[in-house]
Amino acid sequence: MFMNPVVIITGASRGLGLCLAERFVKAGGVVFGTSLTRKSWESARKRISDRKKFRLFLLDITREAGVKRFISKIRRICGRIDVLINCAGYVGRLAPIEDESLREFEKNIAVNLTGPFLMCKYVLPVFRARKKGWMINISSMAGKRAVPRLGAYSAGKFGLVALTQAIAKENPGGQFKCITVCPGGMNTEMRVNLFGRKDAERQQTPEFVAEKIMEIIYGRIEMESGWDIVIRHGKVTAINPLPGA
Ligand SMILES: NC(=O)c1ccc[n+]([C@@H]2O[C@H](COP(=O)([O-])OP(=O)(O)OC[C@H]3O[C@@H](n4cnc5c(N)ncnc54)[C@H](OP(=O)(O)O)[C@@H]3O)[C@@H](O)[C@H]2O)c1
Repeated sequence: MFMNPVVIITGASRGLGLCLAERFVKAGGVVFGTSLTRKSWESARKRISDRKKFRLFLLDITREAGVKRFISKIRRICGRIDVLINCAGYVGRLAPIEDESLREFEKNIAVNLTGPFLMCKYVLPVFRARKKGWMINISSMAGKRAVPRLGAYSAGKFGLVALTQAIAKENPGGQFKCITVCPGGMNTEMRVNLFGRKDAERQQTPEFVAEKIMEIIYGRIEMESGWDIVIRHGKVTAINPLPGA
């Protein structure tokens, strides 16, 4: 695998993204983390204090010009990118389709699908040129089977599985890998805001999911490009290969 990997993680200020950043820093990597706001930076930096190995940037992943500039900047600083993890996500509130506003629907699609599309679009040429790299798209169980009153979120997360599969099919040969990770509920702010603290405390930890992702990247769980993995109730419950043509 990679020695001292250069890792980009969107949504690295808290939740699963922060757990992943911590794991990579411990493994000797340099993490360029992004978030939409600075509101969780102080607590993130308390958890990972090495500012050279964990750098936080403000980036709205739904804006193409900003994403393009950000990727060029990392290439300038490090000369390479080894891992991209599209972890930033947005869920909003519970609403049946007929009560969902167009604005909320579009925000779900923008953060959960358009953002990862833009990040992949600008990282793909880097991976293709180096003939290596890992692209990990964080979808959800809601990206495998739709959740009622989370129609917009489910649609975005299903779309992310399709985006991963398309990237894998367009880049055969196994030089770099693009996979989807579909976690079930995790005990993070997103879950607390949606279903309350008691429910969140019953969910698996983001630390567990982060550990499984490290096992994939370091080859202890074998996955090919285009595959997806379901991590639910503290277990790997399915690994699905890339469907054929
Ligand atoms: N929690 C669950 O139960 C669960 C289950 C399955 C899948 N997932 C997925 O797992 C991933 C991580 O979830 P989580 O629970 O750790 O999330 P979280 O705690 O809510 O954190 C979300 C992160 O995304 C960032 N973000 C939001 N909108 C953004 C934008 N437009 N541009 C850039 N960054 C943006 C946030 O930045 P700020 O701090 O600035 O807001 C934050 O860092 C998400 O993709 C989520 O959909 C979560």
